[in-house]
Formats: sequence, structure tokens, C-alpha cells
Amino acid sequence: MRKQIAAANWKMNLTLNEASTLLDELLNTPHSLKAHQEAIFAVPAPYISLATQKLGDKMNIFVAAQNCHQKNSGAYTGEVSATMFASMGVKHIVIGHSERREYFAETDALLAEKLDAVLAIGSTPIFCCGEPLAIREAATQNEFVASQLQNSLFHLSAEQIVKVVIAYEPIWAIGTGKTATSDQAQEIHAYIRSFLATKYGQAIADQISILYGGSVKASNAVELFSNPDVDGGLVGGASLIATEFAAIINALK
Ligand code: PGA
Repeated sequence: MRKQIAAANWKMNLTLNEASTLLDELLNTPHSLKAHQEAIFAVPAPYISLATQKLGDKMNIFVAAQNCHQKNSGAYTGEVSATMFASMGVKHIVIGHSERREYFAETDALLAEKLDAVLAIGSTPIFCCGEPLAIREAATQNEFVASQLQNSLFHLSAEQIVKVVIAYEPIWAIGTGKTATSDQAQEIHAYIRSFLATKYGQAIADQISILYGGSVKASNAVELFSNPDVDGGLVGGASLIATEFAAIINALK
């Protein structure tokens, strides 16, 4: 079975003490992960040591970074590389979140470079894609997402693409409380998988986990994740509440 993943995206939230409390609460809230299931915590970079201390030795739980620079090292003041994260035990990195695309002008071409940097050191990119509201209203979301995938991912080999986790996050559903319906999520996830199959073949496409993101909560996770092509979620707001995120982990199929 494909990996089923509940990924927390804390974004730029919480103080160190609050982060520590949240991790403790989460560890004390009943949750369980089967062999094919993972929980991933994309915490702010300064809290990575804390998170790896608390979570590092737990089965199928991983700490992730929310972004990285495309180069390994050099004169890039304020930036952090995938190599640095890997040296701290962090092997999952979120790449191309819509907030990075929008507020930090990250382009498809730049994201292709970041993916290469992450894959080159053997880490796992969680690559985000998804359309803004105007595109959804024009019903051209498939074409929009296809071009994001084509521009940033399609230079990868088959051996590389199976290491990528994809997160489909419609921008109109992020932090808005508006969730794609279960049918909308399944429809575009199936489309994404079929589009990957046109390039890499069905067997490869079937191995790639595709997460849904955008106002996932405990109350909608079971229904969303029950779809055959929805392999878990990338969760913002609800990942900041231990009971919510534990329930989301437990909703994985
Ligand atoms: P949200 O954020 O769950 O708060 O909508 C999801 C995300 O941006 O990854």
C-alpha cells in the first residue's frame, strides 16, 4: 500500500515554549501509526532540534523543514540548506508551498532547483501544488496544476519521482475554513495521478503519495482520506491543536 501521511505545517507560529508544550501534548494524546502510515512535523527551522529530541526516536514520526535554499552552502545570509537540515536528522522538506510562491516569489523553475537539491542528498521533498480561486471558478484547475507539475517535476527520473510526496492544496481552501469537498479532492488527485502516469507510467504513479491540504480538520479528515487517491493531508491550523492533529493521524487509512 502507498504511504499514508499526516503532515503538520506549523508555518510561522508558536514560541519555543509553546512548541515544546504542543509536542508534549501530542505525544500524550492517543494516536497510532501502522507500518504504512507516517506523521511528519514541519516545524519552524529554529525548533528543529527541540522537535527531533522529542520525536526523533518515535516509529514512523519525522520532523520536517518548511523550506530550504536551492544551494548546499555559500554566501546566502539568512538561508538554510537541505544539507544543513539533513545534518540535523531532518530528511523531509516542504517545497513550493503556495505561501512561498505568493509572498517569496518562488517560481516553478526555482522549485525545480530546490527539488534537485533535496533529492541529491537523499531527502524527501513534499512538493505543493494547487490553484487559486479564479482558476477553480474558471474550471481550469487541472491544466493549472498540470503545468506546475510539468515545470517543476518532469525533469526528474522515475527513480527520483517515486521519492517525492505531492501535496495538492487549493489556495482558496488554505486557512479559509473552506475545504474542497471529498469529491473535488478525489477528482483532482486522480487527475494528478493520471497526469504523472502519462510521463512515468501507471506503476510509478501508483507509488506516489498525494496529500490533500486546505482546512483539513478532525471533523473532515476521515471522509477526505477515505478517497482512493487521497493519501493523507498537509495540515496547517488544525496541526496546532494536539487533539485535532492526533485525530487526523488516526483518520489515515
Ligand atoms: P490550513 O493550511 O490547514 O490551515 O488550511 C494548510 C497548509 O497551508 O498547508
